[in-house]
Amino acid sequence: MKNIETIKCGSITKKKLNSVVEVCGWIHRRRDHGGVIFFDLRDESGLVQVVCNPEEKDTFALAETCRSEYVISVVGKVRERPEGTVNLELDTGEVEVVGSFLKILNPSLPIPFQLDEHASVGEETRLKYRFLDLRREEMQKNIRLRSKTSKCVRDYLETNEFIEIETPLLTKATPEGARDYLVPSRTFPGSFFALPQSPQLFKQTLMASGFQRYYQFARCFRDEDLRSDRQPEFTQIDLECSFVTSQNIKDLVTDLLKKVFFEVLNIKLGKFPTMTYEDAVAKFGTDKPDLRNPLELEDVSELFVSSEFKVFNDPANSKDSKIACLRVPGGEVLTRKQIDDYTEFVSNFGAKGLAYIRVEDPGKGKEGLHSPILKFLEDDIVKTLLQRVGAQKGDIIFFGAGPNKIVNDSLAALRIELGKNLNLLTSDWAPCWITDFPMFELNASGEITPLHHPFTSPKCSKEELIKDPLSCLSDAYDIVLNGLELGGGSVRIHDHEMLSSVLEVLGINKKEGEEKFGFLLSALQHGCPPHAGLAIGFDRLIMLMTSSESIRDVIAFPKTQTASCLMTDAPGQASSDQLDELKIIVDKDD
Ligand code: AMO
Ligand code: AMP
Repeated sequence: MKNIETIKCGSITKKKLNSVVEVCGWIHRRRDHGGVIFFDLRDESGLVQVVCNPEEKDTFALAETCRSEYVISVVGKVRERPEGTVNLELDTGEVEVVGSFLKILNPSLPIPFQLDEHASVGEETRLKYRFLDLRREEMQKNIRLRSKTSKCVRDYLETNEFIEIETPLLTKATPEGARDYLVPSRTFPGSFFALPQSPQLFKQTLMASGFQRYYQFARCFRDEDLRSDRQPEFTQIDLECSFVTSQNIKDLVTDLLKKVFFEVLNIKLGKFPTMTYEDAVAKFGTDKPDLRNPLELEDVSELFVSSEFKVFNDPANSKDSKIACLRVPGGEVLTRKQIDDYTEFVSNFGAKGLAYIRVEDPGKGKEGLHSPILKFLEDDIVKTLLQRVGAQKGDIIFFGAGPNKIVNDSLAALRIELGKNLNLLTSDWAPCWITDFPMFELNASGEITPLHHPFTSPKCSKEELIKDPLSCLSDAYDIVLNGLELGGGSVRIHDHEMLSSVLEVLGINKKEGEEKFGFLLSALQHGCPPHAGLAIGFDRLIMLMTSSESIRDVIAFPKTQTASCLMTDAPGQASSDQLDELKIIVDKDD
């Protein structure tokens, strides 16, 4: 077999006609045709057709025993496919390899699902047999694109003088707001490491250590409720710089994302507009607006302050409540049934109803409108309302009335749903920066918590911060792409007194601060430069770049919704010896 070229399946084209080659790969499909056996042989480069004729007795006999996903090698001559059998959808579709020598490198048990039928295969099966699922073309593409993107990011950052530094995985809790994954220490029985929720504390410490531009592809661990865009173990493109402003970081990340989209997908991302948190929530009901969708919310509360219509009058006169509307061009065509379905849809977000007005002809005043609430509304209010929202022929105007959060959540979701159902999206990609977040918010128990993390710089003085923390804004920024929070960061507090004020607002006393992140507090007091940074959710980035529905489709070995791995069966039980060594007693009754 000397001097026979071993080549990739997908590279066999007419250029190779009449040469004898060796190809190795998996049997993607096998077909028997009147005594001739055909294989589609697959490797990472693509498919090529192999033909085994009965004249080659040994080869043919072996070919008869081959099944899907057997790994084989074939030596044979490349020839043109006979007329009528050319497949122009394949790069190799004009040729085939006539097998003269076949070797089974490894047989395969019957596979639990065909690799080109994944749509009908349950995700549980796909995750249990992940090694097979990953052979599918879509998964191969996703994982390869992930690698290409990571190279592109590294190249960009290295060119811009960033250096990669790894930070520990066995560490102490990082205050990012989720539950920690804990690892028991054998050498300190009863003590636990926490896996990092992010490298936040270490990257800031590195700034104090004089590394002015740090980055890392950082594994992060968060024990939180999982959704289609969250995993318990995920990757961040984490970065931090000294002596920079928030604008410097935003410019850098904008440039990085533009480069990645262009180099990997050949897509030119347009403008990255900046919007304040307050504007985003007012216009879109969320701080992660999908700007591909042209619909905007309009707060019309003050129009109903003296209205007789109770459903609107009550929220118009109550603190923390409002009335907002969403004008949908062309929405007049929605049927009663569709409107009922949307009413049901918004009820999932707590909305008590979904009032609407169909606009047949705005010029005719009330006569040109249709709505069950029209009879309750005063003529002058209707007139002002139409002007205010810029009502046009053929519109439907939806209303949300009630507590701010319910109105925002329900209309934000309705906006997305309408955009999808009515095909309203105006572009493929719409990035934006969100800035000027509140420093703090109240959690479910009414306690003050940071909206980002405690090291985020406020945009006010220490005195203002202490006096009225809930109205303080922070120098934080999020990058949002097509309605998904892709990354977030901030200018950090490098001034020890300011940090003390923030910790005071958060009710973290000196002792607790020392215990939780004393090393960072110390680093900040030993000549730490001003610094700022950000982390991009790498899995989310790849999810968007591959138009995947789930984050699990861009991670080689992801966890399920209940944070388990079906392939390895992790998490597993520890042996009694291991538990003894760790001095851990498991209460199995709970
Ligand atoms: P943050 O918590 O906003 O910031 O995380 C940054 C980005 O990480 C991604 N992300 C996730 N991706 C998948 N699964 C998860 N469970 C998950 N959680 C977060 C998101 C998010 O925007 N230390 C700060 C960053 C900084 O201030 O520099 C941090 O971790 O895309
Ligand atoms: P009702 O008086 O409850 O029958 O409501 C009259 C109209 O107002 C119906 O079309 C409801 O869908 C709508 N509606 C009721 N409550 C709300 C609300 N909180 N927000 C928006 N519309 C509402």
